[in-house]
Amino acid sequence: MANHILVIASLLAIACAMVTAFEPSPLQDFCVADPTSSARVNGLACLDSKMVQANHFSFSGLHIPGNTSNPLGSAVKPVFVGQLPGLNTLGISMARIDYAPWVLEGKLFVGFVTSNPENRLITKFLEKGDVFVFPIGLVHFQRNVGHGSAFSISSLSSQNPGVVLVANALFGSTPSIPNDILAKAFQVDESVEAPARAWVDEAEVRMPAKTSAD
Ligand SMILES: *[C@@H]1O[C@H](CO)[C@@H](O)[C@H](O)[C@H]1NC(C)=O
Repeated sequence: MANHILVIASLLAIACAMVTAFEPSPLQDFCVADPTSSARVNGLACLDSKMVQANHFSFSGLHIPGNTSNPLGSAVKPVFVGQLPGLNTLGISMARIDYAPWVLEGKLFVGFVTSNPENRLITKFLEKGDVFVFPIGLVHFQRNVGHGSAFSISSLSSQNPGVVLVANALFGSTPSIPNDILAKAFQVDESVEAPARAWVDEAEVRMPAKTSAD
């Protein structure tokens, strides 16, 4: 069941997908990550429980707004196992996401696309206090559509979640996905790929391309 605890909103202002591995239940009460251990297990090795302190289970600074003066107009402060070693093996983490204002009235616009064959776009405008769940692994986006700053606290069903920015994955991989493969997948002429690649390459923080969801 723990695998079905779904993730709440997060991440960058355009289209991106969280990719999280399903994580098994822990075999002990806690397993504070020991970053100095060379042991390789499914997760990080456990610190000797006699060495564990309260501060292994706490993190400070989530009240501090991130700097959204960047092309994405958002800032993510992760609280993953790297920042909070007590999360190791617990299958959960969180992040603070700040959003620069966009153009409309005071709301966060969020959405995700269901899997094939429906590919249904499910969207909602969120007000202060609202919670939204993005199912694991589905492409999703968030945008601040208010005049002022916005932020959310996101909880993620992995101690160390990865992020897939759709445009970066498709047009900014190293080495590149061959043009003919992208052209076939998108059913477009190969020349269409070049501007998308150039944009991903030039954007200072690897800004993803707009999607039809915008
Ligand atoms: C925010 O980031 C911008 C761009 O890097 C920088 O110019 C600015 O000084 C930063 N603001 C703060 C408060 O750190």
